[in-house]
Amino acid sequence: MAPLDNPPNPAGLATAELAIADSPSPSRTSLSHTSHIVGTVKGPGEDGNQYVFITADKRQVKFGEYVYYSLTQSFSPGRPIEKRNILGKISGLTLIEHLPDRLFADTETSPELIAALVGFTHANPEIYEVTVDVVGYFDPNLGFLNLRKAPDPGAKVYIAEDAMLQRILNKKQWGEIGSAQIGSLLLREQDAVQVTLDVKELVSTHMAILAGTGSGKSYTAGVLIEELLAPYNRAAVLIFDPHGEYKTLEDLRGHPAFQGDDGYAPKVQILTPDDIRIRISSLDYYDILTLLPMTSDRQQAILSKAFAILKKHKRGGGDYRWDVQDLIAAVYQADTSVDEEGNEKKGSSAEALEWKLGQMERSPYFHAMEHLTPPGLLQPGQVTVLQMSEISQEEQQVICAAILRQTYHARLNTQKENIGPEDENYLPYPVFVLLEEAHRFAPAHEPARCKQVLRTILGEGRKFGMGMGLITQRPGKIDSDVLSQCMSQFLMRIVNPVDQESLKHGVEAAGRDLLQELPSLTKGQVIVSGACINTPVLCQVRQRLTTHGGTTLNAPELWMSHFSAHRQAARAVKAAPLAGRKQARTHRGVSIE
Ligand SMILES: Nc1ncnc2c1ncn2[C@@H]1O[C@H](COP(=O)(O)OP(=O)(O)O)[C@@H](O)[C@H]1O
Ligand SMILES: [Mg+2]
Repeated sequence: MAPLDNPPNPAGLATAELAIADSPSPSRTSLSHTSHIVGTVKGPGEDGNQYVFITADKRQVKFGEYVYYSLTQSFSPGRPIEKRNILGKISGLTLIEHLPDRLFADTETSPELIAALVGFTHANPEIYEVTVDVVGYFDPNLGFLNLRKAPDPGAKVYIAEDAMLQRILNKKQWGEIGSAQIGSLLLREQDAVQVTLDVKELVSTHMAILAGTGSGKSYTAGVLIEELLAPYNRAAVLIFDPHGEYKTLEDLRGHPAFQGDDGYAPKVQILTPDDIRIRISSLDYYDILTLLPMTSDRQQAILSKAFAILKKHKRGGGDYRWDVQDLIAAVYQADTSVDEEGNEKKGSSAEALEWKLGQMERSPYFHAMEHLTPPGLLQPGQVTVLQMSEISQEEQQVICAAILRQTYHARLNTQKENIGPEDENYLPYPVFVLLEEAHRFAPAHEPARCKQVLRTILGEGRKFGMGMGLITQRPGKIDSDVLSQCMSQFLMRIVNPVDQESLKHGVEAAGRDLLQELPSLTKGQVIVSGACINTPVLCQVRQRLTTHGGTTLNAPELWMSHFSAHRQAARAVKAAPLAGRKQARTHRGVSIE
């Protein structure tokens, strides 16, 4: 995968210059691949960051296409005069000169023919005025810098060539350590301009995949995970998988594309609900409250008091591992008061709480001692898939909150050297956690168990090397504090107007022009913006190397197969009365057995 047959050009100005020396590569035939003049600058555009140029070449100028002009000047005080290419993106296209309308009104004859008859001989009779939004010139150290100055009228405008775009759009080049090749630029031929993201940014400053159902979110996440597990990244990844879509990552095992020269091969750990073990003492008061059915105010007060009693134990001896019975004992203690005469008086809440806590103790996921430790879930070169289908919403929230909290503390304490290798929470490497259905775990205007810990991780996680990837089909329903901390965004088809509107505020980085595209994107087309790339791009996500696990059931096909001949026969056999099956004895139609 991602072989280095496309070696990165040495970054910098020298190669950018080559782009102007129109040098078509022999293997590339498409016009858009090579740099050549498409038009001439007319003057500034409507806003300060735009200019307009005139062209007669309509095949080349497309909405969103990259063009540049060259500028020769000193780019900062004290620097010599240099020539640089100022990249821009086409954002508007107006036909300003065309054949007379009368020619088009005649539906029988082609306008070109009539034009020729009346002596109009120009090959391209239409003239376009094209608006360009300036991106800036590329500085290998600083990224794109925008001069906010329109080019001089008469300056030539060039189509940016593939190699130039690949080098300056991407922060990392294909196959480099810390790169993630997720697809190629949509406007160019497939694979002509690879889109290669910066994994360091992706996993430390968090990312979000936002799109409507069925637009390819999980597929894209799958591609990213593949890249994270490739020999040039070897990440430690945990996926909360509420729909059982990521089991197919098992294909990574032994897959030749993921083998490293040094013997590296990614590990895949699939945990089913049966494998989930959360130690009760790692839960806090609010976790327990979420797990208990309906508690009265008084019961909550008693439970809170019981937690305070448990905490006193903790102060005595480090990590106090209490179990449900300890909590129940503390509840009884908390619900006992002493009257004026010194007699103990039992309250009425303890018994009800005992019953509810007893129910919780029977849950298969919460245990007195057994526990999924952070290093058990997260290892470099390993992806762990935590399958949470079949688990109730409340339990999912608590499991997720407990694991996230523990992982965060593990990273924090390891980083601050509060714990050493002997501690079960020792986690001496950065980690990345992917969360599907993120709007359920951090909803906008309602409480949820995970919300607080997610806010903390999104706010502070980068300091301790804990990155999150959030996926949701309802960007309008996710907590805005959480969303605004995702510094890289993957936006795919979104039709819902409420969700589109929410993105305009939450994800400005993508830019107005690209956000307009959201409803018209098709499957696998994604707008990538933010910290992982130099400037936002519209990208076609590459094919997955592992199988995609999230395919929609084909209901009509399954209904049809219900009627296939051999299935009908099989059902007939099943429904037939078994030989010797005894009829129930009845008396006047009533069973007497
Ligand atoms: N880049 C892609 N290339 C090919 N097929 C894709 C791509 N992205 C999505 N699909 C197809 O689209 C369907 C929906 O994708 P999925 O990722 O499950 O959607 P979502 O998670 O957004 O609901 C899947 O069946 C998948 O095969
Ligand atoms: Mg999905």
